[in-house]
Amino acid sequence: MSVDHRPPLVWDLPLRLFHWLLVICLVGAVVTVQLGGSWMAWHERFGLAIFGLLVFRLVWGVIGSTHARFSRFFPTPGRLLAWWRGQWHRPGHTPLAALSVLAMLGVLAFQATTGLFADDDIAYTGPLRSLVDSATSSRLTGLHMQMEWVIYGLVALHLAAVAFYSLVLKKPLIRPMITGRAADGTDAESARGGGWVALLIALAITAGALWVANGGLLPPPPEASPDLGW
Ligand code: HEM
Ligand code: HEM
Repeated sequence: MSVDHRPPLVWDLPLRLFHWLLVICLVGAVVTVQLGGSWMAWHERFGLAIFGLLVFRLVWGVIGSTHARFSRFFPTPGRLLAWWRGQWHRPGHTPLAALSVLAMLGVLAFQATTGLFADDDIAYTGPLRSLVDSATSSRLTGLHMQMEWVIYGLVALHLAAVAFYSLVLKKPLIRPMITGRAADGTDAESARGGGWVALLIALAITAGALWVANGGLLPPPPEASPDLGW
């Protein structure tokens, strides 16, 4: 049996793809909403893609490889205390990082979900807009717009934390998010599990959720009555 001498696996490939696709789609959603006009169609596409990515992450957090699982890094008071005392040595998110990770995932999920019911009162509506009355849609659209700065704040905090760890504490976090492997050759435990079957289950659930979010269960719109030219 050959021995694997590579540094331990921290982030599996699906998690890394999730992360970098999320970055691309978030930048895409924010840029296209600023451009406005017909770019709103792309805003909705990027937004829906983010919705799908988050559903995938939710499932992967249960059946993905060990370090990607929520149960491994959920920041309980005991774990936060252990981290504070310098007794946390597991690879993956520290309990403090986990707080910001869960906040980012939660706020983005809120944003993508409210977007499904949003209405700009001009040309663009989220695919589930018809499920709620006008007052509810206005309220959800208002929340969708207010959340913008919370997202910018959390992303700024995230980037500042990653920069602080890399530049000041000299703990390389970025390379593992690209290659998957620990950069400092620690003897930490490699991520296990999250194989092909788990990936197929997660992708199937994501596809189903995207279909529903995109209005797949809604009755087809009534056919336009033929223009008889009268
Ligand atoms: C739109 C911008 C970004 C968003 C929304 C974002 C979001 C996230 C999320 C949700 C996670 C947790 C991964 C998970 O377990 O699900 C994460 C982790 C991480 N991100 Fe980002 N990210 C962004 C940009 C970046 C950039 C530009 C970098 C690198 C320069 C980066 C580096 C990292 C690293 C190193 C981790 C792992 C942190 C750790 O070890 O605890 N992120 N990011
Ligand atoms: C996490 C993903 C999303 C982000 C970060 C995001 C961000 C934003 C922001 C910042 C605005 C307000 C722009 C302004 O001030 O005029 C906005 C508006 C809007 N978004 Fe999203 N959005 C996301 C997902 C979605 C989704 C999934 C949909 C629908 C499929 C959607 C549909 C809309 C619509 C229709 C508006 C126009 C509201 C109006 O102008 O009254 N968004 N979005």
